[in-house]
Amino acid sequence: MTADRCLAVVLAAGDSTRMKSSMSKVLHPVGGQPMIAHVMQAVKAAGIADIALVTGRDAEKVTKAASIAGLTVRSYFQSERKGTGHAVQMAKEAIAEGFDEILVAYGDVPLLTPTPLVEARAKLKEGFDVVVIGFRTANPFGYGRLLVENGELIAIREEKDASEEERKVTWCNSGLMVIHGAKAADLLSRITNNNAKGEFYLTDIVEIARSLGGRVAAVDAPEEEMTGCNTRAELAVIERLWQQRRRHELMLSGVSMIAPETVFLCHDTVIEPDVLIEPNVVFGPGAVIESGAVIHAFSHIEGARVASGAAVGPFARLRPGANLGRNAKVGNFCEVKKAEIGEGAKVNHLTYIGDAFIGAHANIGAGTITCNYDGYNKFETHIGANAFIGSNSALVAPVAIGEGAIIGSGSVITADVPDDALALGRGRQEIKPGRAKLIRERNAAIKAAKKGA
Ligand code: UD1
Ligand code: CA
Repeated sequence: MTADRCLAVVLAAGDSTRMKSSMSKVLHPVGGQPMIAHVMQAVKAAGIADIALVTGRDAEKVTKAASIAGLTVRSYFQSERKGTGHAVQMAKEAIAEGFDEILVAYGDVPLLTPTPLVEARAKLKEGFDVVVIGFRTANPFGYGRLLVENGELIAIREEKDASEEERKVTWCNSGLMVIHGAKAADLLSRITNNNAKGEFYLTDIVEIARSLGGRVAAVDAPEEEMTGCNTRAELAVIERLWQQRRRHELMLSGVSMIAPETVFLCHDTVIEPDVLIEPNVVFGPGAVIESGAVIHAFSHIEGARVASGAAVGPFARLRPGANLGRNAKVGNFCEVKKAEIGEGAKVNHLTYIGDAFIGAHANIGAGTITCNYDGYNKFETHIGANAFIGSNSALVAPVAIGEGAIIGSGSVITADVPDDALALGRGRQEIKPGRAKLIRERNAAIKAAKKGA
């Protein structure tokens, strides 16, 4: 990577009309993160730290979403959309500061990776004034075409301004380009709006640079990476592609997925090698799954950590603050929120554990509920190591169950239980010998009397 200073001018002033949304399209999430943040990650990974963000709608929120750690983001408001050339000019104050290179990127291409950016920057150093990032597509409609003569890029022609012949060209402008830092201000200032749309086209910079004796070139990027987002349908396509890419990366890093197309990841999902993910698992933000854990089918995991050797599901829900220790088990139809589940502890069936601490090797019987909420405030339940909670118990917090204590099933526990004690909080069982038989005979007689009447 280069030590040259590069300024990235990121255009995000679109109206997002076709999204039919109450917010700017670049705020819509892909993998649970605003698409503008994805673009910023790629820019940052290409070694660029200075960002001039051109905003319109939702300027403040867009700037906040773009300000990922490690980047200096300055925002420039474009009050009127007069074209991509005009949009870049909004950042002219930053451009004039004297960077070695100016990268222009769009905020609505979340599948972007650093590779084409690094390649374009390297190419510029071979003595070019402008390096355009192009892509090849079977369906070029709507894109600017890269026109080549004698093997040299000579112009970018927009769809509306292109001739019949030019429209047949399948090499297209991604919209991203790198411009020679010292020449950028002059080149950009020469762009006019003399074209079919009456807009200031950034793409005119190719012909302008050549007319001044400069050299221009293009590098190729995969079409997929350059997929832009204009509609909700395109957003769904981008999400699918992003999910595919991320699953693939995880599988190559050693994660097993039986049916990867049914596993949904978040931008920050951490899954270590030798984790097995069964079908139909959804990860929300903040999930960390350590090596050797198993996530069984139909589980939903968010803001939770699952330690090595632990097992989750099938049909489990881990909510924020769930922290499963080594070899712990949270089984079917259990919900865990803001709770430590100690090493080897078992919460296996139909249980709710919230605001709780569960010691190592404790066993939580089926249907146990930590009653953590009185309608106003939340309270904690503490369960000591090796405690055994009988099935269908309600632990009314705040309450502490001692180490090695046993709770009889069906108990409602409202007071602390000491270590190694047995606690029974339920009605005592009574046995009435022969009474069932008497009840049956009485009922049969009543029925017979009704029939005879
Ligand atoms: C642009 C390119 C075209 C390329 C295509 C790739 C030009 C003239 N054309 O066309 O060659 O194939 O992208 O997708 O550059 N924007 C602003 N302010 C403006 C205008 C645009 O911020 O005044 C932003 C938009 O929000 C968008 C990006 O710039 O993110 C591109 O603008 P758009 O109008 O979509 O350009 P295209 O016509 O698609
Ligand atoms: Ca576009």
